[in-house]
Amino acid sequence: MPISQRSGAAATALLGLGVHRPARTVDNEEICRVLDSDDEWIRTRTGIASRRFAAEGESLVDMATAAAERALAAAGVAVEQIGLVIVASSTHAQHTPHAAPLVADRLGSQAAAFDVSAGCAGFCHALSIASDLVRGGNTGHALVIGAERLSSFLDPTDRSTAMIFADGAGAVVVGPADEPGIGPVAWGSDGSQSRVIRQEPGCRDVDQAHPPVVKMEGTAVFRWAPFAMADVARSAVEAAGLALDDLDAFVPHQANLRITETLARNLKLPEDVQVARDIVESGNTSAASVPLAIERMIRDGQAAPGDTALLIAFGAGLSYAGQVVTLPPVAVG
Ligand code: UT7
Repeated sequence: MPISQRSGAAATALLGLGVHRPARTVDNEEICRVLDSDDEWIRTRTGIASRRFAAEGESLVDMATAAAERALAAAGVAVEQIGLVIVASSTHAQHTPHAAPLVADRLGSQAAAFDVSAGCAGFCHALSIASDLVRGGNTGHALVIGAERLSSFLDPTDRSTAMIFADGAGAVVVGPADEPGIGPVAWGSDGSQSRVIRQEPGCRDVDQAHPPVVKMEGTAVFRWAPFAMADVARSAVEAAGLALDDLDAFVPHQANLRITETLARNLKLPEDVQVARDIVESGNTSAASVPLAIERMIRDGQAAPGDTALLIAFGAGLSYAGQVVTLPPVAVG
């Protein structure tokens, strides 16, 4: 017997976005109390002036839930309408239970809930999955959350990671729309470079159990991302039926300001396309960086809801994903 299949919304869009930035700002001077580095090196080589670290007891689920509540408010969507919650993260403390059902429960929802692990590219992967599930009729609305608590996965003496990574969360509501607001994804992986960004057992202190620590061969990422991601960016724009001239904003994963600038140059982005530089005050928040960067662009008036933006995320795996989107309303405060 043939099996019935569903079909859903003809078009999907981002309906609202919310973020959570932990209250504690950590400047380079504080990082360098432990790390053998200095403010000038960190600013010049990474673009980072400060970042946010979660407070003691402020969990990844806390941050993800706060961002999700703001995204729902911005979208004007009730939690009862959410049929799917996806959390993209590499720093939830346990594989089991995964983060998304805990977030759903905190929101008062029993929606389908799962995590996506695709390193810094997790948010753009999860966005594509959610959009296709809404279009496929398997959920009406979905919450997509990128959340990281990298501060507890760092060796503070490691010169290739300690000054880069940070904490935060960003969420969007994906749902049906009159016009398409989420373009086709351009994505892929290169597992032959899997060692370049990895977690290793945390053994800084033999007397205490530590979570794994992130290790990175930063120069290898540097040699790869600004060039390989230019091709992915062009594919995403082409798949959306647009040209680079049609973009208002470019929101790459906030890995390193030099990567962002080299990538924009390699892409030959038109000068009037606004480029996200949230890394200066947020550091690299991995799967949370793209929604956090969108929020800052809109808050600072660099972009506006309704603008056309190219998202590109890349990192551990190596995995990457990007798509063109119409920017959503953003929760303020
Ligand atoms: O989000 C996931 C993807 N991750 C990324 O995209 C990260 C990409 N990579 C990076 O951000 C950069 O590679 C780093 C910021 C990690 C390192 O910057 P770099 O320009 O690649 O530095 P390097 O490792 O080539 O080192 C250059 C110099 C060396 O000194 P000499 O040999 O030239 O005298 C290092 O010893 O800088 C030195 N150095 C440092 N000095 C002060 C390396 N790290 C540090 C440091 N502070 N933290």
